[in-house]
Amino acid sequence: MRALTEPWTLGGHRLPNRLVLAPLAGIGNWFVRLQARRHGAGLAVSEMVSSFGLSYGDERTHREFLRIHPDEHPVSMQLFGHDPDVMREAARMVAEAGADLIDLNMGCPVRKVCKTGAGASLLDDPDRAVRIARAAREGSGLPVTVKLRSGQRPGERTGVALAERLVAEAGVAAITFHPRHAAQEHAGRPDYDLASELVERLDAPVIVSGGLSSDTAVRQAFDSTGAAAVMLARGSLGNPWRFERLLGRRDGEPTRAEVMHELLWVIARAEEHLGVERAGRYLRKFYPWYAATLRLSKREQRALVEAPTTADARCAIALLGASQGEPVAA
Ligand SMILES: Cc1cc2nc3c(=O)[nH]c(=O)nc-3n(C[C@H](O)[C@H](O)[C@H](O)COP(=O)(O)O)c2cc1C
Repeated sequence: MRALTEPWTLGGHRLPNRLVLAPLAGIGNWFVRLQARRHGAGLAVSEMVSSFGLSYGDERTHREFLRIHPDEHPVSMQLFGHDPDVMREAARMVAEAGADLIDLNMGCPVRKVCKTGAGASLLDDPDRAVRIARAAREGSGLPVTVKLRSGQRPGERTGVALAERLVAEAGVAAITFHPRHAAQEHAGRPDYDLASELVERLDAPVIVSGGLSSDTAVRQAFDSTGAAAVMLARGSLGNPWRFERLLGRRDGEPTRAEVMHELLWVIARAEEHLGVERAGRYLRKFYPWYAATLRLSKREQRALVEAPTTADARCAIALLGASQGEPVAA
Protein backbone atom coordinates (compact mmCIF):
# COMPACT_ATOMS: atom_id res chain seq x y z
CA MET A 1 0.00 0.00 0.00
CA ARG A 2 1.44 3.38 -0.98
CA ALA A 3 1.54 6.08 1.68
CA LEU A 4 1.18 9.86 1.56
CA THR A 5 4.12 10.03 3.93
CA GLU A 6 6.57 8.44 1.48
CA PRO A 7 9.35 10.68 0.19
CA TRP A 8 9.80 10.97 -3.60
CA THR A 9 11.90 12.81 -6.14
CA LEU A 10 10.62 15.51 -8.45
CA GLY A 11 13.00 17.07 -10.96
CA GLY A 12 15.95 16.03 -8.82
CA HIS A 13 14.45 17.47 -5.61
CA ARG A 14 13.78 15.10 -2.77
CA LEU A 15 10.29 15.85 -1.44
CA PRO A 16 9.40 14.57 2.04
CA ASN A 17 5.86 13.42 1.23
CA ARG A 18 3.09 13.26 -1.39
CA LEU A 19 1.16 16.42 -0.47
CA VAL A 20 1.44 19.55 -2.61
CA LEU A 21 -0.17 22.96 -2.13
CA ALA A 22 -1.88 24.06 -5.35
CA PRO A 23 -1.21 27.27 -7.22
CA LEU A 24 -3.99 29.66 -6.19
CA ALA A 25 -4.25 33.00 -7.98
CA GLY A 26 -4.44 35.97 -5.63
CA ILE A 27 -3.69 33.67 -2.68
CA GLY A 28 -0.53 31.56 -3.09
CA ASN A 29 2.08 34.10 -2.02
CA TRP A 30 5.17 33.32 0.08
CA PHE A 31 3.41 33.29 3.44
CA VAL A 32 0.53 31.06 2.33
CA ARG A 33 3.11 28.66 0.87
CA LEU A 34 5.24 28.90 4.01
CA GLN A 35 2.17 28.16 6.12
CA ALA A 36 1.45 25.01 4.08
CA ARG A 37 5.07 23.89 4.46
CA ARG A 38 4.98 24.57 8.24
CA HIS A 39 1.95 22.30 8.45
CA GLY A 40 3.58 19.54 6.45
CA ALA A 41 3.05 20.05 2.69
CA GLY A 42 6.02 18.53 0.87
CA LEU A 43 5.94 21.21 -1.83
CA ALA A 44 4.05 24.43 -2.43
CA VAL A 45 3.41 26.06 -5.80
CA SER A 46 3.01 29.82 -6.20
CA GLU A 47 -0.01 31.60 -7.54
CA MET A 48 0.23 32.10 -11.30
CA VAL A 49 2.53 34.92 -12.34
CA SER A 50 2.40 36.63 -15.72
CA SER A 51 5.47 35.97 -17.85
CA PHE A 52 4.75 39.28 -19.59
CA GLY A 53 4.49 41.12 -16.26
CA LEU A 54 7.94 39.82 -15.32
CA SER A 55 9.67 40.38 -18.63
CA TYR A 56 8.28 43.91 -18.95
CA GLY A 57 10.01 44.63 -15.68
CA ASP A 58 7.04 45.65 -13.58
CA GLU A 59 8.72 46.39 -10.26
CA ARG A 60 5.75 45.39 -8.10
CA THR A 61 5.33 42.07 -9.94
CA HIS A 62 8.95 41.29 -9.16
CA ARG A 63 8.91 42.44 -5.55
CA GLU A 64 5.64 40.82 -4.56
CA PHE A 65 5.20 37.79 -6.80
CA LEU A 66 8.81 36.61 -6.80
CA ARG A 67 9.28 36.92 -3.06
CA ILE A 68 10.47 33.63 -1.61
CA HIS A 69 10.98 32.95 2.09
CA PRO A 70 14.19 31.08 3.00
CA ASP A 71 12.19 28.35 4.81
CA GLU A 72 9.97 27.53 1.82
CA HIS A 73 12.43 25.51 -0.22
CA PRO A 74 11.90 23.59 -2.37
CA VAL A 75 9.40 25.95 -3.95
CA SER A 76 7.81 25.99 -7.38
CA MET A 77 6.80 29.22 -9.10
CA GLN A 78 3.99 29.04 -11.61
CA LEU A 79 4.15 31.12 -14.80
CA PHE A 80 1.56 31.71 -17.49
CA GLY A 81 1.88 33.16 -20.95
CA HIS A 82 1.67 32.35 -24.64
CA ASP A 83 4.98 33.57 -26.04
CA PRO A 84 8.01 31.25 -25.86
CA ASP A 85 10.57 34.09 -25.96
CA VAL A 86 8.85 36.00 -23.20
CA MET A 87 8.55 32.75 -21.22
CA ARG A 88 12.29 32.08 -21.63
CA GLU A 89 13.11 35.48 -20.14
CA ALA A 90 10.54 35.23 -17.34
CA ALA A 91 11.79 31.74 -16.43
CA ARG A 92 15.34 33.11 -16.20
CA MET A 93 14.11 35.74 -13.72
CA VAL A 94 12.26 33.17 -11.65
CA ALA A 95 15.44 31.07 -11.40
CA GLU A 96 17.38 34.19 -10.40
CA ALA A 97 14.80 34.87 -7.67
CA GLY A 98 15.68 31.48 -6.15
CA ALA A 99 12.87 29.15 -7.26
CA ASP A 100 13.68 25.44 -7.31
CA LEU A 101 11.11 24.43 -9.93
CA ILE A 102 8.93 26.14 -12.49
CA ASP A 103 5.34 25.14 -13.12
CA LEU A 104 3.58 26.27 -16.29
CA ASN A 105 -0.11 27.01 -16.28
CA MET A 106 -1.89 25.30 -19.17
CA GLY A 107 -5.18 24.83 -17.37
CA CYS A 108 -6.55 28.23 -16.39
CA PRO A 109 -10.04 28.57 -17.89
CA VAL A 110 -10.43 32.30 -17.18
CA ARG A 111 -11.37 34.23 -20.34
CA LYS A 112 -8.91 37.06 -19.75
CA VAL A 113 -6.06 34.51 -19.72
CA CYS A 114 -7.34 32.20 -22.49
CA LYS A 115 -8.05 34.95 -25.00
CA THR A 116 -4.34 35.83 -25.04
CA GLY A 117 -3.54 32.21 -26.02
CA ALA A 118 -2.32 31.25 -22.53
CA GLY A 119 -3.77 28.94 -19.85
CA ALA A 120 -6.19 26.24 -21.01
CA SER A 121 -6.24 27.57 -24.58
CA LEU A 122 -2.80 25.92 -25.00
CA LEU A 123 -4.62 22.56 -24.94
CA ASP A 124 -5.72 23.46 -28.47
CA ASP A 125 -2.25 24.63 -29.54
CA PRO A 126 0.06 21.76 -28.53
CA ASP A 127 2.99 22.84 -30.74
CA ARG A 128 3.10 26.19 -29.02
CA ALA A 129 2.66 24.53 -25.62
CA VAL A 130 5.74 22.37 -26.28
CA ARG A 131 7.76 25.42 -27.42
CA ILE A 132 6.78 27.31 -24.27
CA ALA A 133 7.82 24.43 -22.01
CA ARG A 134 11.16 24.08 -23.81
CA ALA A 135 11.76 27.81 -23.54
CA ALA A 136 11.05 27.75 -19.80
CA ARG A 137 13.61 24.99 -19.33
CA GLU A 138 16.22 26.71 -21.47
CA GLY A 139 15.70 30.09 -19.82
CA SER A 140 15.80 28.84 -16.25
CA GLY A 141 17.92 25.70 -16.25
CA LEU A 142 15.36 24.43 -13.73
CA PRO A 143 13.09 21.40 -13.85
CA VAL A 144 9.75 22.39 -15.38
CA THR A 145 6.36 20.89 -14.60
CA VAL A 146 3.05 21.65 -16.32
CA LYS A 147 -0.44 21.85 -14.86
CA LEU A 148 -3.21 21.09 -17.27
CA ARG A 149 -6.79 19.95 -17.67
CA SER A 150 -8.32 16.92 -19.41
CA GLY A 151 -9.47 19.11 -22.29
CA GLN A 152 -11.24 22.32 -23.17
CA ARG A 153 -14.73 20.93 -23.64
CA PRO A 154 -16.77 17.97 -22.31
CA GLY A 155 -15.57 14.62 -23.63
CA GLU A 156 -12.21 15.93 -24.85
CA ARG A 157 -8.94 14.36 -23.76
CA THR A 158 -6.49 16.68 -25.43
CA GLY A 159 -4.80 17.07 -22.03
CA VAL A 160 -3.64 13.45 -22.09
CA ALA A 161 -2.08 13.80 -25.54
CA LEU A 162 -0.47 17.13 -24.62
CA ALA A 163 0.95 15.70 -21.38
CA GLU A 164 2.67 12.93 -23.37
CA ARG A 165 4.15 15.40 -25.84
CA LEU A 166 5.35 17.74 -23.08
CA VAL A 167 7.23 14.91 -21.41
CA ALA A 168 8.60 13.37 -24.62
CA GLU A 169 9.45 16.54 -26.56
CA ALA A 170 10.05 19.21 -23.92
CA GLY A 171 11.53 17.10 -21.11
CA VAL A 172 8.91 18.18 -18.60
CA ALA A 173 9.64 16.64 -15.17
CA ALA A 174 6.04 16.02 -14.09
CA ILE A 175 2.45 16.79 -15.01
CA THR A 176 -0.18 18.07 -12.64
CA PHE A 177 -3.46 16.80 -13.98
CA HIS A 178 -6.77 18.44 -13.10
CA PRO A 179 -9.22 16.03 -14.75
CA ARG A 180 -12.02 18.49 -15.29
CA HIS A 181 -12.42 20.10 -18.70
CA ALA A 182 -11.83 23.84 -18.83
CA ALA A 183 -15.50 24.63 -19.54
CA GLN A 184 -16.33 23.09 -16.13
CA GLU A 185 -14.05 25.60 -14.43
CA HIS A 186 -13.93 24.32 -10.83
CA ALA A 187 -17.27 22.52 -10.56
CA GLY A 188 -18.29 18.89 -11.05
CA ARG A 189 -16.66 15.60 -10.24
CA PRO A 190 -13.13 15.23 -11.60
CA ASP A 191 -12.57 12.23 -13.88
CA TYR A 192 -10.14 10.28 -11.71
CA ASP A 193 -10.31 7.31 -14.12
CA LEU A 194 -8.73 9.49 -16.76
CA ALA A 195 -6.09 10.51 -14.23
CA SER A 196 -5.30 6.79 -13.62
CA GLU A 197 -4.98 6.29 -17.35
CA LEU A 198 -2.52 9.17 -17.58
CA VAL A 199 -0.52 7.73 -14.65
CA GLU A 200 -0.27 4.44 -16.59
CA ARG A 201 0.72 6.04 -19.88
CA LEU A 202 3.08 8.79 -18.82
CA ASP A 203 6.82 8.42 -18.48
CA ALA A 204 6.90 10.97 -15.67
CA PRO A 205 5.19 11.47 -12.31
CA VAL A 206 1.59 12.70 -12.27
CA ILE A 207 0.25 14.93 -9.51
CA VAL A 208 -3.52 14.82 -9.31
CA SER A 209 -5.62 17.91 -8.58
CA GLY A 210 -9.33 18.54 -8.23
CA GLY A 211 -12.12 17.80 -5.79
CA LEU A 212 -9.75 17.32 -2.86
CA SER A 213 -11.76 19.13 -0.20
CA SER A 214 -11.91 16.42 2.45
CA ASP A 215 -9.34 14.08 3.96
CA THR A 216 -11.26 11.11 2.55
CA ALA A 217 -11.35 12.58 -0.95
CA VAL A 218 -7.58 13.17 -0.83
CA ARG A 219 -6.84 9.59 0.28
CA GLN A 220 -9.23 8.10 -2.27
CA ALA A 221 -7.80 10.12 -5.16
CA PHE A 222 -4.25 9.14 -4.16
CA ASP A 223 -5.14 5.45 -3.87
CA SER A 224 -7.45 5.15 -6.87
CA THR A 225 -5.35 7.06 -9.41
CA GLY A 226 -1.91 5.76 -8.39
CA ALA A 227 -0.65 9.34 -8.82
CA ALA A 228 2.75 10.22 -7.39
CA ALA A 229 1.21 12.99 -5.30
CA VAL A 230 -1.99 14.90 -4.59
CA MET A 231 -2.45 18.64 -4.80
CA LEU A 232 -4.69 20.37 -2.27
CA ALA A 233 -6.40 23.59 -3.32
CA ARG A 234 -9.70 24.82 -1.84
CA GLY A 235 -9.54 22.05 0.75
CA SER A 236 -6.56 23.72 2.37
CA LEU A 237 -7.90 27.27 2.56
CA GLY A 238 -8.12 28.26 6.21
CA ASN A 239 -7.32 24.67 7.07
CA PRO A 240 -3.59 23.95 6.79
CA TRP A 241 -4.09 21.35 9.57
CA ARG A 242 -5.43 19.07 6.83
CA PHE A 243 -1.81 18.48 5.77
CA GLU A 244 -0.92 17.36 9.30
CA ARG A 245 -3.91 15.05 9.56
CA LEU A 246 -3.23 13.44 6.20
CA LEU A 247 0.35 12.80 7.28
CA GLY A 248 -0.84 11.22 10.53
CA ARG A 249 0.72 13.97 12.63
CA ARG A 250 -2.52 14.93 14.35
CA ASP A 251 -6.10 13.80 14.80
CA GLY A 252 -9.20 15.87 14.35
CA GLU A 253 -9.84 19.53 13.73
CA PRO A 254 -7.71 22.24 15.37
CA THR A 255 -8.94 23.86 18.55
CA ARG A 256 -10.42 27.35 18.29
CA ALA A 257 -7.32 28.76 20.04
CA GLU A 258 -5.07 27.14 17.42
CA VAL A 259 -7.11 28.61 14.58
CA MET A 260 -7.10 32.07 16.13
CA HIS A 261 -3.33 31.98 16.69
CA GLU A 262 -2.84 30.85 13.10
CA LEU A 263 -5.00 33.66 11.78
CA LEU A 264 -3.01 36.19 13.82
CA TRP A 265 0.15 34.77 12.22
CA VAL A 266 -1.42 35.23 8.77
CA ILE A 267 -2.42 38.82 9.56
CA ALA A 268 1.09 39.68 10.74
CA ARG A 269 2.68 38.14 7.61
CA ALA A 270 0.23 39.97 5.31
CA GLU A 271 1.11 43.27 6.98
CA GLU A 272 4.78 42.49 6.54
CA HIS A 273 4.19 41.71 2.86
CA LEU A 274 1.77 44.42 1.78
CA GLY A 275 1.82 47.06 4.50
CA VAL A 276 -0.98 47.50 7.05
CA GLU A 277 -3.49 49.22 4.79
CA ARG A 278 -3.33 46.90 1.79
CA ALA A 279 -3.20 43.86 4.08
CA GLY A 280 -6.55 44.93 5.55
CA ARG A 281 -8.17 44.82 2.13
CA TYR A 282 -6.29 41.74 0.91
CA LEU A 283 -7.22 39.59 3.91
CA ARG A 284 -10.98 40.04 3.58
CA LYS A 285 -11.17 36.97 1.37
CA PHE A 286 -9.18 34.96 3.95
CA TYR A 287 -11.43 35.57 6.97
CA PRO A 288 -14.44 33.44 5.84
CA TRP A 289 -12.15 30.42 5.43
CA TYR A 290 -10.96 30.72 9.04
CA ALA A 291 -14.50 31.48 10.26
CA ALA A 292 -15.57 28.18 8.64
CA THR A 293 -12.75 26.26 10.36
CA LEU A 294 -13.75 27.95 13.64
CA ARG A 295 -17.32 26.73 12.98
CA LEU A 296 -18.69 30.18 13.81
CA SER A 297 -22.34 31.00 13.35
CA LYS A 298 -23.26 33.83 10.94
CA ARG A 299 -23.72 36.16 13.91
CA GLU A 300 -20.46 35.15 15.61
CA GLN A 301 -18.39 35.61 12.46
CA ARG A 302 -19.77 38.97 11.37
CA ALA A 303 -17.18 41.20 13.10
CA LEU A 304 -14.34 39.13 11.66
CA VAL A 305 -15.51 38.66 8.09
CA GLU A 306 -16.52 42.30 7.81
CA ALA A 307 -13.40 43.69 9.51
CA PRO A 308 -12.34 46.73 7.44
CA THR A 309 -8.78 46.82 8.80
CA THR A 310 -6.32 44.37 10.31
CA ALA A 311 -6.72 46.17 13.65
CA ASP A 312 -10.47 45.47 13.53
CA ALA A 313 -9.78 41.82 12.65
CA ARG A 314 -7.39 41.46 15.61
CA CYS A 315 -10.01 43.01 17.85
CA ALA A 316 -12.69 40.60 16.54
CA ILE A 317 -10.36 37.65 17.20
CA ALA A 318 -9.61 38.86 20.74
CA LEU A 319 -13.34 39.23 21.46
CA LEU A 320 -14.06 35.77 20.06
CA GLY A 321 -11.30 34.33 22.23
CA ALA A 322 -12.60 36.09 25.34
CA SER A 323 -16.20 35.02 24.68
CA GLN A 324 -15.09 31.40 24.48
CA GLY A 325 -12.79 31.48 27.47
CA GLU A 326 -9.78 31.04 25.16
CA PRO A 327 -7.98 34.39 25.38
CA VAL A 328 -5.59 35.09 22.52
CA ALA A 329 -3.03 37.86 22.62
CA ALA A 330 -3.93 39.95 19.58
C1 LIG B 1 -9.33 30.79 -6.14
C2 LIG B 1 -8.60 29.82 -7.04
C3 LIG B 1 -7.45 30.23 -7.67
C4 LIG B 1 -6.77 29.34 -8.52
N1 LIG B 1 -5.62 29.76 -9.12
C5 LIG B 1 -4.91 28.91 -9.89
C6 LIG B 1 -3.66 29.30 -10.45
O1 LIG B 1 -3.16 30.41 -10.24
N2 LIG B 1 -3.01 28.39 -11.24
C7 LIG B 1 -3.52 27.13 -11.47
O2 LIG B 1 -2.89 26.34 -12.18
N3 LIG B 1 -4.67 26.73 -10.93
C8 LIG B 1 -5.37 27.58 -10.14
N4 LIG B 1 -6.53 27.16 -9.55
C9 LIG B 1 -6.95 25.76 -9.68
C10 LIG B 1 -6.45 24.94 -8.46
O3 LIG B 1 -5.04 24.91 -8.41
C11 LIG B 1 -7.00 23.51 -8.47
O4 LIG B 1 -6.52 22.84 -9.62
C12 LIG B 1 -8.53 23.51 -8.49
O5 LIG B 1 -9.04 24.38 -7.48
C13 LIG B 1 -9.08 22.11 -8.30
O6 LIG B 1 -8.81 21.63 -7.01
P1 LIG B 1 -9.97 21.59 -5.85
O7 LIG B 1 -11.24 21.13 -6.54
O8 LIG B 1 -9.43 20.59 -4.86
O9 LIG B 1 -10.09 22.99 -5.31
C14 LIG B 1 -7.25 28.04 -8.74
C15 LIG B 1 -8.43 27.63 -8.09
C16 LIG B 1 -9.11 28.50 -7.25
C17 LIG B 1 -10.35 28.03 -6.56
